Amino acid sequence: MKTILVTGGAGYIGSHTIVDLLKSGYEVISVDNHYNSIALSYDLIQKLAGKSFKKYNIDIAQENALKVVFEENDIHGIIHFAALKSVPDSVANPIFCFKNNNNATLNIGDYALKYGVQNIVFSSSCSVYGNVEPADLPVQEQTKIRKAESPYAYSKQNGEVYLESLTDISDLKVLALRYFNPVGADDSGELGEFPSKHSNNLVPIITQTAIGLRDHMMVFGKDWNTRDGSCVRDYIHVSDIAEAHVLALKKLFEEDYESKFEVVNLGSGAGVTVFEAINSFEKMSGVKVNVKVGKRRDGDVESIYSWPVKAKELLNWAAKKDVDTMMDSAWKWQKKLIELGFNATKL
Ligand SMILES: NC(=O)c1ccc[n+]([C@@H]2O[C@H](COP(=O)([O-])OP(=O)(O)OC[C@H]3O[C@@H](n4cnc5c(N)ncnc54)[C@H](O)[C@@H]3O)[C@@H](O)[C@H]2O)c1
Repeated sequence: MKTILVTGGAGYIGSHTIVDLLKSGYEVISVDNHYNSIALSYDLIQKLAGKSFKKYNIDIAQENALKVVFEENDIHGIIHFAALKSVPDSVANPIFCFKNNNNATLNIGDYALKYGVQNIVFSSSCSVYGNVEPADLPVQEQTKIRKAESPYAYSKQNGEVYLESLTDISDLKVLALRYFNPVGADDSGELGEFPSKHSNNLVPIITQTAIGLRDHMMVFGKDWNTRDGSCVRDYIHVSDIAEAHVLALKKLFEEDYESKFEVVNLGSGAGVTVFEAINSFEKMSGVKVNVKVGKRRDGDVESIYSWPVKAKELLNWAAKKDVDTMMDSAWKWQKKLIELGFNATKL
């Protein structure tokens, strides 16, 4: 069976993807320095998948840190998640973000070529499209790439350009998956996103408010030009995202698959407003959330949602789980976090 190196495997999306990889019969090696995760997620993955896997606690942005991993293992494919994902942090500290994200991707590409690994799935993001204008919606892969709005988004644009350039000079094939807004948790309620040092994502904020860890939550602006005045995003269940990675790997492993570099949007194609997301949560949990409405926040885009047809055509993948399922699973996970002793909004 094939062995897959997963970078950032203890993190939110990495952990759900490892469960799917193990259940699909792959051997997994995870590398993570736990900058934004904890080793407990490995125990939860193993419990859910009923299988163990190899782990390395290393910082892959450091030159030569990956040597031991490639020396000790015969790797057939790489899923490269490891990155710092907080947009505001990247604005506050661009050097830290660039050093980490660019060097991590640089090293992954370097070692893939040195050790003849021919398949990489790269975690990209809809942030590569920049400040999307209404005329760009829904966002397709060929939608114009505008100036990156943050060092984080720029690091994803860089990652794509760098990896594509490596495919020109080697046998490497790359699928870059541009996620829209991953949310939710495994439907079992036994695995999800741990409170992050740097989270400013909507769904953890909703569930933390509902469970009493926050007094209230803010909605930034109700005067946007949308159906209820709040911003529109394309939410997608984390388990759907995980499945897309397994399908992407399978595609790269197909003998007659020849394309060297492709980008693929991972979204549902449907925009959901912030108020709709909160209403769905309240319906599924039966808990009322204390919401306050404030002014628009700098840097927010009014609406962004995908056109996910390429994912269907290339990977035979489409988002299956709806917003109610996302909210239901997120609420189960929030209650599990309290059971596990996580009583704070941040790690
Ligand atoms: N979650 C989202 O909303 C979202 C949206 C679009 C794209 N992405 C991308 O998906 C990927 C995974 O995101 P996530 O939500 O799981 O984030 P996460 O922070 O939960 O997971 C990332 C993991 O990578 C690890 N890591 C970071 N730098 C590292 C390094 N130098 N060496 C080793 N490990 C390192 C972190 O400790 C963490 O466990 C990231 O590349 C992120 O940019 C995420």
